[in-house]
Amino acid sequence: MNVRAATVDDLAGMQACNLHNLPENYTMKYYLYHALTWPSLSYVAEDHKGRIVGYILAKMEDFEEQPDGAPPASDHVPHGHVTSISVLRSYRRLGVAKKLMVQSQEAMATVYHAAYVSLHVRKSNRAALSLYRDTLGFTIKDSEAKYYADGEDAYAMQLSLKP
Ligand SMILES: CC(C)(COP(=O)(O)OP(=O)(O)OC[C@H]1O[C@@H](n2cnc3c(N)ncnc32)[C@H](O)[C@@H]1OP(=O)(O)O)[C@@H](O)C(=O)NCCC(=O)NCCS
Repeated sequence: MNVRAATVDDLAGMQACNLHNLPENYTMKYYLYHALTWPSLSYVAEDHKGRIVGYILAKMEDFEEQPDGAPPASDHVPHGHVTSISVLRSYRRLGVAKKLMVQSQEAMATVYHAAYVSLHVRKSNRAALSLYRDTLGFTIKDSEAKYYADGEDAYAMQLSLKP
């Protein structure tokens, strides 16, 4: 599987992959917003025919400038955020999601000097929790009740990107 930075031409394929895999779906405008604003943070995995079999859609979280000399509020440290990641069923457990995550995390750190990366995950999503916690080293920072539209709770997770 080839993993490369997503371009605007990939957005329809990413959206199709998302619709197959997840109940959290987004408008094309929202994909475009990510691709145009943070072009180095979203990646796709493609098969040998160039079909998109996985993607990561990621962004930087906005942060407010602090008054001169004031330390940044912890909420306002520049950090990356994974909006969505998924891999088509028949391409899972091949290390594709791990590659997508690592590439995006590297770009968050080098291009945008992100201090950490954050994301939300359903408490019942064993595969994703294992990917984030066991494989990538994320920790659970918080639990958000009824975060998802169907009422399921989320874990808010973070991984430091500081060397
Ligand atoms: C979660 C998801 C993206 C993982 O994609 P993937 O390409 O299969 O993951 P990887 O092959 O990179 O897995 C890396 C590690 O994550 C963990 N992992 C992945 N899938 C797992 C599963 N089904 N059960 C347990 N652990 C799993 C393992 O530790 C794995 O390492 P290993 O294969 O060496 O044991 C994929 O299952 C998916 O698309 N799910 C539906 C969409 C989704 O839930 N997205 C996340 C929303 S927060």
